[in-house]
Amino acid sequence: MTERVVAAIDQGTTSTRCLLFNRSGRMIAVAQREHRQYYPRPGLVEHDAAEIWRNVTRVVPAALRNAGLTPDNIVGLGIANQRETTVIWNRHTGVPLAPAITWQDTRTDGIVARLADDGHAALIKDICGLPPATYFAGPRLRWLLDHVPGARDGAEAGDVLFGTMESWLIWRLTGGPDGGRHVSDVTNASRTMLMDVRTLEWSEKLLEVLAVPRRMLPEIRPNAEVYGTCTAVLPGVPVAGALGDQQAALVGQACFSPGEIKCTYGTGAFLLMNTGTRLAESTHGLIPTVGYVLGDKPVYALEGAIAMTGSLVQWFRDSLGMIATAAQIETLASSVPDNGGCYIVPAFSGLYSPRWHPDARGVMVGLTSFINRGHLARAVLEATGWQTREVIDAMNADSGVPVTRLKVDGGMTANHLLMQFVADVLDVPVERPLVSEAVSLGAAYAAGLAVGHWSDLEVLRANWHRAAAWEPAMDAALRRREHENWGRAVNRSYGWVQ
Ligand code: G3P
Repeated sequence: MTERVVAAIDQGTTSTRCLLFNRSGRMIAVAQREHRQYYPRPGLVEHDAAEIWRNVTRVVPAALRNAGLTPDNIVGLGIANQRETTVIWNRHTGVPLAPAITWQDTRTDGIVARLADDGHAALIKDICGLPPATYFAGPRLRWLLDHVPGARDGAEAGDVLFGTMESWLIWRLTGGPDGGRHVSDVTNASRTMLMDVRTLEWSEKLLEVLAVPRRMLPEIRPNAEVYGTCTAVLPGVPVAGALGDQQAALVGQACFSPGEIKCTYGTGAFLLMNTGTRLAESTHGLIPTVGYVLGDKPVYALEGAIAMTGSLVQWFRDSLGMIATAAQIETLASSVPDNGGCYIVPAFSGLYSPRWHPDARGVMVGLTSFINRGHLARAVLEATGWQTREVIDAMNADSGVPVTRLKVDGGMTANHLLMQFVADVLDVPVERPLVSEAVSLGAAYAAGLAVGHWSDLEVLRANWHRAAAWEPAMDAALRRREHENWGRAVNRSYGWVQ
């Protein structure tokens, strides 16, 4: 019998991967390529969307080769992607007009500040649920329209299209300039600051506030649906699912009931709590967002977004040269019993949830002659633990129901020292599933649901199996003291950008 599998593309901040999943949701093959990060000036982070597309055309055949399969074995393709990264391209040539501006890029701080000065902050939050911030795609699109020659005229004439990465890839996969489908899924659209979070349509009011021509926007679609058929890469295979990577992980972790939470540790860390069909408000710095639309009704989520976790380790490796591989940080951090009094606050692009301080920048405090590389490695890892704790505290405060366990996934969950620290500072158990590639699995699930490969969410829930768990073991008094020190360190990061 021909093997039937689902393919997922995980277009992330640092790399593009293709993963293949069998019917039990087990990964059977993977291929990956990193793309170049461009840092033209402090605060600016760009990608080349054409390079990312080229990487897709390479990793998909490579994954098939690794599994010994052909496109005939693939029942559907799902896409998960770095959210908020913004690209505009010419619909006739398929050529991007400018480098893609990534979600970490802070060049739109002036635009965002003006929105607040003009009294639009409350209106924006009310319509799209998001606090105006450089994190989201809309201000980036405005920046491109204002700065790239020909962009605004082209957009108004219908020649220039906007998309986040899933939109760009679906358009390319389904034909590009020759009839490619221009769509975005509802979770990615919910991060543009341009979508009405209740109607799930583009908001005319927000388009007006940000001066974005309606014609350049993709059509907003649910997460599991056949958007079109691949003409390239996997000819004949339906492109049948798309979600922002963090929402994809919510699905991949089977967080289908209100109150269930996952945290994905990648470049940053993103905690999403399922809040059911109710759009929950946050008074503690979380982002109300669309979780997924897999049935008739949207399921919402509250999100805590942490900008730097894995990327801090990367910086420690590449910019400081303290380690040769990311995995070595665990050994180095284990060479000392504690942080020696040193704390690192990685506010490299300001602080996101729950503090939202765009004026903050990174600080390292508590340095003495005693501090060595091991202590710094520990402080790097502990920054991830404390930032997770701040988001969980906000979730507890917003929901009034204390979190009792945390499902984790993503690359950094291979680091036992870190996962133990997370369990210690949260004082709740931390659990990792058998398939820790939750982002890709979620995209595969969406596509598989759309083509009837999986029947419903219960089948997917049954696929979730715990593979590892970390129980809290830190002394309560120590936890309190360290928490206080972390808070004092964060206060030092405020107000650096003036
Ligand atoms: O919101 C940004 C997020 O989607 C990026 O995720 O895993 O590519 O760092 P990741």
